[in-house]
Amino acid sequence: MIQIEHLARSFQVPAAPGKRLSFKRARATVVQAVRDVSLLAPNGQITGLLGPNGAGKTTTLRMLAGLVQPDAGRMTVDGVDVANRPLEALSRLGVLSDSRGLYPRLTARENIVYYGALQGMTRDAANARAESLARMLDMAALLERRTDGFSQGERMKTALARALVHDPANIVLDEPTNGLDVIATRALRESLRLLRSPEGGAKCIVFSTHIMQEVERLCDSVVVVAHGRSVAEGTVAELLERTGKSDFEEAFVELAFAPEPSLQTGVSA
Ligand SMILES: Nc1ncnc2c1ncn2[C@@H]1O[C@H](COP(=O)(O)OP(=O)(O)OP(=O)(O)O)[C@@H](O)[C@H]1O
Ligand SMILES: [Mg+2]
Repeated sequence: MIQIEHLARSFQVPAAPGKRLSFKRARATVVQAVRDVSLLAPNGQITGLLGPNGAGKTTTLRMLAGLVQPDAGRMTVDGVDVANRPLEALSRLGVLSDSRGLYPRLTARENIVYYGALQGMTRDAANARAESLARMLDMAALLERRTDGFSQGERMKTALARALVHDPANIVLDEPTNGLDVIATRALRESLRLLRSPEGGAKCIVFSTHIMQEVERLCDSVVVVAHGRSVAEGTVAELLERTGKSDFEEAFVELAFAPEPSLQTGVSA
């Protein structure tokens, strides 16, 4: 189970060089990437983090993965506080980042096994797991190839296998269907449904997307993020009812692109 409460983070961005005045200190602007995001993702469910470009999805997930420190708020993974016990929290988490971040000189298998070793697995156990994940993700033919030159879909599969190598109870995916064709997208959806099911371990799955069809097809519940705030949460049916719309795209546009004042209420988990 993943719980995020009132998360916030801003970044200092240096002013553009052209705007610097000589002899004066370059002024920095502050980008408030995440203002107030809350989320509760239970086990055995797929929770969608749905928001437009720049809404704060990646920054939220990077904080959860311990890559960026929050300015405020609290995050727990299976009740373990990410700030106080980061290694313990991270060992319960499998993360597919938006950049995928594979080592190009290593083969797909080496990428997966190396990550398993970092998580404390023996090489034999990590190799066996790499092979079973490769079967599940239909990428057995890729295992012995260097990832340099892999297509987007091949990189995504390898990165997903790497994220799952230590069989984490919680899986976090940043825009996993980006760049995937229809067959690869359907295969990924099937894999996520399996991981959600009791046979697949009833994992807690959180994935970010800006595609509402993904949410409609896959998610048990959704948190809508806009301008760095979680502005609504519930099932697709609940959000349709709340907005009085029959089409989820219409409901999303109303929730995510409402004028700022109505966005002031964050979701309390
Ligand atoms: N390291 C950083 N430095 C400066 N600004 C940042 C940084 N990281 C994120 N931001 C800004 O924070 C905002 C939220 O970015 P984020 O990547 O979290 O959005 P997103 O919801 O993932 O968007 P997308 O759908 O385009 O991936 C954006 O305005 C972005 O420019
Ligand atoms: Mg993003």
